[in-house]
Amino acid sequence: METTLRPYKLSDVDDFMEWSSDDEVINRTRLRRFTTREDALSYLKEVVIPRPWCRAICLDGKPIGFIAFKPWDSANNRCRGTISYALGSKYWGKGIVTKAVKMAVPIVFKEFPDIERVEGLVDVDNKASQRVLEKAGFQKEATLRKYLILHGKTIDVFVFSLLPTDLMARVS
Ligand SMILES: CC(C)(COP(=O)(O)OP(=O)(O)OC[C@H]1O[C@@H](n2cnc3c(N)ncnc32)[C@H](O)[C@@H]1OP(=O)(O)O)[C@@H](O)C(=O)NCCC(=O)NCCS
Repeated sequence: METTLRPYKLSDVDDFMEWSSDDEVINRTRLRRFTTREDALSYLKEVVIPRPWCRAICLDGKPIGFIAFKPWDSANNRCRGTISYALGSKYWGKGIVTKAVKMAVPIVFKEFPDIERVEGLVDVDNKASQRVLEKAGFQKEATLRKYLILHGKTIDVFVFSLLPTDLMARVS
């Protein structure tokens, strides 16, 4: 089975709905639940496709999740940005998102020349996501207390980071 990344298209709406209406995914992310095809279609058109960098994670060509990078937009923070991802729950535990992160990070450094640091912010209870970042070579740096609101609950997160020099260390 081959994992690839590519931009989302409007014609992906049915595959997009498969994972974006999956409670296992929604409960662990700040995504809202999509209940109608029209709702999902306008979200793809107005939010997902215009994002600075967002790719469908595809398994043998079928979109089964997403990986995104959001650079900070203010001049003084342009050296960094945040990575995020999610995958339909029936595909969990097969190494797919680790592979997607490893593919995405070098592309991000190439496409955003100002970026010197890719960050991941992960719920302290989300062990699978922490493990993904560790396996992709990120370093765990700190705990940010009461940092994000996830479905109405304020949570503590771990901040992870990866620099281009970490990537070079990974290759050598
Ligand atoms: C987190 C998520 C992206 C992981 O994707 P995935 O493709 O299943 O990840 P991988 O298979 O590459 O790696 C998962 C790792 O976590 C480990 N893991 C899974 N559940 C775990 C748990 N409860 N405790 C400890 N480790 C766990 C797996 O064993 C695996 O590590 P290993 O290879 O050392 O055995 C996926 O579960 C998901 O989409 N979750 C919902 C959305 C989400 O949490 N997004 C991130 C928000 S910060």
